[in-house]
Amino acid sequence: MTSNANQYTWAGRFSEPVSDLVKRYTASVDFDKRMWRQDIRGSLAHAKMLAKQGIISPQDFADIERGMAIVAQEIESGQLEWSIDLEDVHLNIEKRLTALVGDAGKRLHTGRSRNDQVATDIRLYLRDAIDDIQVLLKAFRSALVDLADKEAATPMPGFTHLQVAQPVTFGHHMLAYFEMFGRDSERFADCRKRVARLPLGAAALAGTTYPIDREFVARELGFEGVCENSLDAVSDRDFAIEFTAACSLLMMHISRLSEELVMWMSPRVGFIQIADRFCTGSSIMPQKKNPDVPELARGKTGRVYGQLMSLLTLMKSQPLAYNKDNQEDKEPLFDAVDTVTDTLRIFADMAGGITVRADNMKAALTQGFATATDLADYLVKKGLPFRDAHEAVGHAVKAAEAKGVDLPQLTLDEIRAFCPQVESDVFAVLTVEGSLASRNHIGGTAPEQVRAAVVRARQRLG
Ligand code: ARG
Repeated sequence: MTSNANQYTWAGRFSEPVSDLVKRYTASVDFDKRMWRQDIRGSLAHAKMLAKQGIISPQDFADIERGMAIVAQEIESGQLEWSIDLEDVHLNIEKRLTALVGDAGKRLHTGRSRNDQVATDIRLYLRDAIDDIQVLLKAFRSALVDLADKEAATPMPGFTHLQVAQPVTFGHHMLAYFEMFGRDSERFADCRKRVARLPLGAAALAGTTYPIDREFVARELGFEGVCENSLDAVSDRDFAIEFTAACSLLMMHISRLSEELVMWMSPRVGFIQIADRFCTGSSIMPQKKNPDVPELARGKTGRVYGQLMSLLTLMKSQPLAYNKDNQEDKEPLFDAVDTVTDTLRIFADMAGGITVRADNMKAALTQGFATATDLADYLVKKGLPFRDAHEAVGHAVKAAEAKGVDLPQLTLDEIRAFCPQVESDVFAVLTVEGSLASRNHIGGTAPEQVRAAVVRARQRLG
């Protein structure tokens, strides 16, 4: 007589309905409905196993399969009305299935709990997200390699402390990012191994009394194995934290590139242009073309770090096993997925549209004594200890600065005043081209090396 006051699936023992506020507070369907594909996939694998094990009949499984196809079609076409009275994606789908196929729908949840169900759904969702991210990362990295190939010999100032340090090539600079995003890709691949483990079978927390076949479900879902311990399976979200940590590192790299793009696009620097479709204008200053996309990406990095912190804090001190706290894992996770996938999609496109202003890079290289180290190395090769060479070149730089010229503009006699070992062949090493060509080893910036690195990079991309 009492529980009719409440339409919840689990309300048998309750004597009054929850308030509307509590209903809204505890419901997750508004955000977890995005896992509907994974939820159906997981349910079908579970039902198939139940039938194989003789826990439900072949007819029940056939009804479930037929009903789920209809539910999927209804969701896809926007027909299904999600209800917060049904709390979450799992109960919404189960309820609709049962309306369509009757008792078979009610048997689906045999040997299962929403606790292992939701953990399975998130893992399926994340595995799909990782696979999408890997495709996008590859596209982005190949755009970086194309750019590196094109600009393998284009000199630009390499900076330390944001001051001109030594000449590098723009291609070399792009390949630095190729490496960073390569490690990001490795991190996602590694994380995927731990994501792709099956919680189903853990049921609420302790396992189930039915003769289930977890390995079968794992294979059906393409998982690499089952979670070994039922308590751990339903409760830990370390895989989600790990994923978000990988997203944070990726965004950190994105933010570094973004910062450089913004700086390079500044008219004061003028090293590059990016296509207009990634910029916006100002509503008051007609002359402006602002690099909004890299700036936003820089900003969104903080957002992803925030999601990581949310998930770490969510999990902190949680006693075993499942707690409702874990329902809060989804929004941070989904936001991290959305932010990273959107960012990568845009950056892959944007990288392809970067045009380099080689003249401005070259001009910047003449301000800052970029070949001073080359002069010191030259003196070392003439027999001077490096520290003495360093000091002698320091004096030469001071003289050039006083004269308002770069090192190659000093006369031989002017250089000799500080470094008597110098001969006329010195000018070959003082030029930008000479400086670049001489860093000719794996990992060095010589154009020849950059071209070889591009070839290796393409092989690694597969
Ligand atoms: N919506 C829940 C979540 O996201 C599903 C699991 C609910 N389990 C429970 N015992 N209330 O975690």
